Amino acid sequence: MKLFETKCWWLPVTVKNKKVMNIVVGFTTKDEDCIARASLLADQLQLPLLDLSESSKKIINCNNCSDSCLLLLAVTPDRLELRQTIKRVKPLVVDFFSPTMRYRLLHGGGRKQLLAKAIGIRSNYAPSVLDATAGLGKDALVLAALGCAVHMLERSPIIGALLQDGLVRLEKMSQTLLLQLTQATTFPVWSEQNKLAKFLQPYCGLNLDLKLTIIDAATFIGHCLQKKVQRSDADIYVPEVIYLDPMYPVVQRKTALNKEAMRFLKRVVGDDCDIDELFLYALQLATRRVVVKRPRSAPHLAAKKPNIIFRGASCRYDVYLNSKISVATI
Ligand SMILES: C[S@@+](CC[C@H](N)C(=O)[O-])C[C@H]1O[C@@H](n2cnc3c(N)ncnc32)[C@H](O)[C@@H]1O
Repeated sequence: MKLFETKCWWLPVTVKNKKVMNIVVGFTTKDEDCIARASLLADQLQLPLLDLSESSKKIINCNNCSDSCLLLLAVTPDRLELRQTIKRVKPLVVDFFSPTMRYRLLHGGGRKQLLAKAIGIRSNYAPSVLDATAGLGKDALVLAALGCAVHMLERSPIIGALLQDGLVRLEKMSQTLLLQLTQATTFPVWSEQNKLAKFLQPYCGLNLDLKLTIIDAATFIGHCLQKKVQRSDADIYVPEVIYLDPMYPVVQRKTALNKEAMRFLKRVVGDDCDIDELFLYALQLATRRVVVKRPRSAPHLAAKKPNIIFRGASCRYDVYLNSKISVATI
């Protein structure tokens, strides 16, 4: 474990005289659990560890930082946050209980929303989905809430850590919800519980099948294809649908990218310039369809014309049906 405790840590941090990555892990309070989680994360990601309990305000207010100490994975008692040290922007967090997420689950249109139609969800059918570009897991949660078994893939270990943290909190909340429901039968009149029940309402009755692997999707799909060809392994994973939502390549006005969180995410993961290759791989694995989210006027991936297009106000979904499935059966 590498522990850095320095007051002027925004100067380039060095390990064994080598300049390290422009990101560090820090704990914001000195309670045991917080320190343990931060240490584990720093070890897993091979990043330096900082004590932020005293100095976090100073760090966030620092305007003279060089790019070399730009990002901070802050372990707080409640959650993991990705902070930027040189700009006053909201931290990046995977929060499956955010107001936007709860609104999307309650009022997003259910099976009638474009994403659900593009994936091919029907009243009595929800396919298994490989979300090969998971990002902050928002689309994945919506699909899981609509009944799909969703396997998320994310190649950025930093975003992967945020996703992992979001999933842990989702799991904890589900347990709380279960407890609430059990108590509700015993104590019909709630007070504080009422608030929590209202908060958790969009998640009531959901049986989410959502998992995550932190890996490059091309590598993952490559392994699955290899196993499929060799027919050697009983547990070959073959999803019905593969969903791709790559980073938008160009900054356009009035697109989702203008949202602060997406700009921040883009800064961390960069452009997904290799997406054509991943797309061509995906076409070989998905048994039913590959769905690609694109900006409204962006060219098709690999210049390949989709079978169906669902157009929305700010984006569109290109749907590529598996050639063995006739359009009549969709
Ligand atoms: C636009 S974001 C996806 C947003 C996501 N749909 C959501 O609802 O939050 C794109 C994400 O895909 C990830 N990504 C791009 N190419 C990938 C690949 N080959 N394997 C795994 N993840 C990839 C990027 O790191 C980034 O986090």
